[in-house]
Amino acid sequence: MAIIGIVAVDRRGAIGKAGGLPWHYKVDLRFFKEQTTDHVCVMGRRTWASLSAPLPNRLNIILSHHLMLEPQASVICLRNALEILSLAPYLVSDIFIIGGASIYRTFFPAIERWIVTEVPLTVEDADTFMPAGYLDGFALTATQELADALVVKFYARMK
Ligand SMILES: NC(=O)c1ccc[n+]([C@@H]2O[C@H](COP(=O)([O-])OP(=O)(O)OC[C@H]3O[C@@H](n4cnc5c(N)ncnc54)[C@H](OP(=O)(O)O)[C@@H]3O)[C@@H](O)[C@H]2O)c1
Repeated sequence: MAIIGIVAVDRRGAIGKAGGLPWHYKVDLRFFKEQTTDHVCVMGRRTWASLSAPLPNRLNIILSHHLMLEPQASVICLRNALEILSLAPYLVSDIFIIGGASIYRTFFPAIERWIVTEVPLTVEDADTFMPAGYLDGFALTATQELADALVVKFYARMK
């Protein structure tokens, strides 16, 4: 079990615009699906609101102080990060921290690895950015090229 941050960023660290992703790359969505399927995905209430349905074949954990959800398969809503981190020792699957910015910030001390897709764009009017220095203390371990000039970088926390 590992706690892994997964994100796609533009050249300036932008990740969101008007409540959604500022781009649509099928190849990155496919990559995200490959990485996270059969694992746990933790997201903030705003990122949850941007999805049309729960991510299939994954446990969707939504973090919110107030959101009340009707019971549904593969979705749970928790109130604070500690509730999620206290599950970690009992899980066999990985926990993917899938955003948005406030969730990355909340889980930063717990994240052991990052998977970062670098998007070759500079998004105008982006309104959500990665916290500065989120890769401080991490070392690059691998690089993978996807189609459409996307590059995925894998990082691990230095001991
Ligand atoms: N490029 C990417 O890879 C990527 C990935 C994910 C998201 N995004 C984008 O990022 C944007 C959303 O990011 P965001 O930062 O605005 O919102 P977010 O992190 O998705 O959600 C924020 C909400 O999560 C809840 N929350 C956050 N920290 C919490 C804590 N410690 N305890 C309890 N609840 C907590 C709060 O919900 P309540 O207000 O209900 O309490 C908060 O308002 C969207 O544009 C989305 O498309 C991009």
